[in-house]
Formats: sequence, structure tokens, C-alpha cells
Amino acid sequence: MINSSEFIKQHIRTVPDWPQAGVQFRDITTLLQDPKVFRVLIDIFLARYADAKLDLVAGMDARGFILGSVVAYELNIGFVPIRKKGKLPFTTVSESYELEYGSATVELHTDACKAGDRVLLIDDLIATGGTMMAGKKLLERLGAVVVEGAVIVDLPELGGSKLVEDTGLTLFKVCD
Ligand code: PRP
Ligand code: ADE
Repeated sequence: MINSSEFIKQHIRTVPDWPQAGVQFRDITTLLQDPKVFRVLIDIFLARYADAKLDLVAGMDARGFILGSVVAYELNIGFVPIRKKGKLPFTTVSESYELEYGSATVELHTDACKAGDRVLLIDDLIATGGTMMAGKKLLERLGAVVVEGAVIVDLPELGGSKLVEDTGLTLFKVCD
């Protein structure tokens, strides 16, 4: 009998050399399309955060939206998107960073949360850690308390989760 974390891991597809040579791309579409696996995953997040007294879930563009919106709905709290540059219509705060393959800028609406809000930051994966650190910075610029960063999987060989944890953010990784 395998545990739920191993069950989730087995349903993530690795695509070699995508989007460029040398990248082992962890593709979660294979997990999401299977309702049993998707439910096991969401239930792991719900069990962890049911009593965390969260005010909001913030999801990183784009795969963090898929996970974060379901978790927020089930916890009966709001969801805020942290989007790639140029997509949010209202005033924003903005952070730029480097990725495993390229660079990015992410933005958050200035009224997405209030000072003191307890926010869970969620994404599918940590590679270099740039995305998670940028999300944390944006939320903290608005005065939010980032309770934890939650992901399905980490790519430890890239060292990102260590960098994130060095900023003081606790990470919850479903597949550790
Ligand atoms: C991927 C992934 C994370 C990020 C992790 O998103 O979904 O958000 O990279 O990488 P990092 O730890 O090096 O920052 P990507 O930027 O490829 O965007 P997408 O979700 O729109 O495909
Ligand atoms: N984002 C950055 N690196 C990635 C990888 N190897 N697989 C999936 N998403 C990623």
C-alpha cells in the first residue's frame, strides 16, 4: 500500500527537454485529469490548513490558480491571483525574478489583501524558488502575513526551496 504523497508523485509526468534542452518538466496535467488523484491532493491541503485560521489563499499564475481556487473554495475563504505582468486591470505591486528557463514579472492588486491578513501562498512546484519568493514579497508589501508556502513538488537539485526557507517562509511540500 503506497502513501498518498507517493500516489500523487506517481501521477506527475516528467517531460524531458521541455521547454528547452536540459529541463525535466514536471507536468501536473496527468494528476489533475484523474479525479481520484486530484481529490487526494486537495484533501491533503485541506487537512493541513483546515485549522490554520487563514483569511485568503493566494495562487501563483498559472498552475497555482488551479489548486488555490479549489482550496480557497473548500475552506470558505477568498482567493487572490498573483498574475504575470500586464494581466491585472487595477493598480498593482510588482516583482521581477529569474526562472529555470527565462525571467518573469508578477503582479498583485493593491487591494487584494489588507495588513494582517493571514494568507496561504500556493503553487504547483518550486524550481529556483523565484516565483514563490516574489509572491511572498508582494503579499508582504501589502502587509499580509504569509502563513506558509504550499506546493505539490520541489526540484531540490535547483536549490530553490532552501532559498525560500532562508527568507523565513515555511514550505509544505506534498511530495517530499
Ligand atoms: C512554473 C511553476 C511555478 C514556477 C516555479 O511556472 O508553475 O510557478 O515555474 O519556478 P521557480 O521556482 O523557478 O520560480 P511558469 O513560470 O513556468 O508559468 P506557468 O505556470 O504559466 O506555466
Ligand atoms: N517551472 C520551472 N521549472 C519547472 C519544471 N522543471 N517543471 C515544471 N515547471 C517548472
